[in-house]
Amino acid sequence: MYFYDACGDTKQFDIETYNLGFTDLVYQEDFKLLSSETLVQPKPASVRCIYKVIKKLDNSDFKSELVNFIKNNPFKKYFINSNLLSKKEILTQLYDVKKSVKFHFDADVNTFLLSKRGFFKQKVAVLALMRFDRKFYFCELIDADNVSQLEMFDYKKPYRKQRQGMMPPKLALFMLNLLGKDVKSVYDPFCGTGTTLMLALKNGLSFKGSDISEDNIPGSLENLEYISNKFDVDYDSNSVFQKDALKISSEDLKGISSICSEGFLGKPKAGNEELIDLVRESDNLADFYLDFLENLSGKIESGFPIVMTFPVYKTEKRLVFMDTLYNNLKDIGFKQVKLHPKHMSYLYSRDDQRVLRQVVKIVKV
Ligand SMILES: C[S@@+](CC[C@H](N)C(=O)[O-])C[C@H]1O[C@@H](n2cnc3c(N)ncnc32)[C@H](O)[C@@H]1O
Repeated sequence: MYFYDACGDTKQFDIETYNLGFTDLVYQEDFKLLSSETLVQPKPASVRCIYKVIKKLDNSDFKSELVNFIKNNPFKKYFINSNLLSKKEILTQLYDVKKSVKFHFDADVNTFLLSKRGFFKQKVAVLALMRFDRKFYFCELIDADNVSQLEMFDYKKPYRKQRQGMMPPKLALFMLNLLGKDVKSVYDPFCGTGTTLMLALKNGLSFKGSDISEDNIPGSLENLEYISNKFDVDYDSNSVFQKDALKISSEDLKGISSICSEGFLGKPKAGNEELIDLVRESDNLADFYLDFLENLSGKIESGFPIVMTFPVYKTEKRLVFMDTLYNNLKDIGFKQVKLHPKHMSYLYSRDDQRVLRQVVKIVKV
């Protein structure tokens, strides 16, 4: 049994859905449209913390389990966490444990600290008392957001294009995860600075990437080289090339079993655009993506998965979704796949953003 915990919000977790380190678990359930109609869409969450249950407890007294664990599993340091007890309460409870077993512990658990103190190098263990569904569990942390590692795919990468907006590495990882466990190779036909490709490389997927802009090819390769050196992983420099995504050929798709991409999201927005202009832009982009998919349609097999983000423009009164794209998929041989029991897609956004991203999975029929 496993739990997922984001800032004390604990949920039971199905380890089978956990692939590259991200899941489709949702920690912020409701996203409301700004118009009078209320459309609820989930926001994607990164994995904050995944706990494995070591033992179900009869009450909140986890001291003997803790002592057992420490005796059998020597680590440099133990972090103790709980979604029930405060830091002070943990310290008080552990006061007498310290008499029976010698250990260094810390009740300040956050992903930055974990990373700094060596959790990802297996130097420290994180143990927790979790309360879930009125029951108590003694748990061990098995994975968490590796914040300092994600920085390398973000503002620390050598080739960046701030002006174009940077794809958050969390989002890229989330999207790669949505491709499914069986996918071994991926193509990003709008590769930009190569965020998706860098994460594919780091996570052992073979990949290809292309972009219409000439500059982005050496730029992406520079970023891939950086990841290759950091994590000691190899890639083929011929796998990134210049190409208009509307002209992808069967040759380009050779050896590729999926597409994962944040494509062109439209021109940057000032916030004072007229609704009618945003709708027009959204329709034009929908036509562009329909052409893109139609070109692919004859060149890929049935079931071929495509995970993409499409823009959603925000005005004061409403959100403009690319409905014309979704409504016309069937005509060109594709269908949208449900990503959540109640919803087709995810919205990825921050409050201050004028362009939101809709994460969508499409498959060839
Ligand atoms: C938001 S960025 C892509 C981010 C990228 N997927 C990543 O993982 O970092 C959009 C990219 O689409 C490219 N683009 C726009 N129109 C294109 C087209 N027709 N064919 C290929 N690339 C295109 C732009 O040059 C830009 O680099």
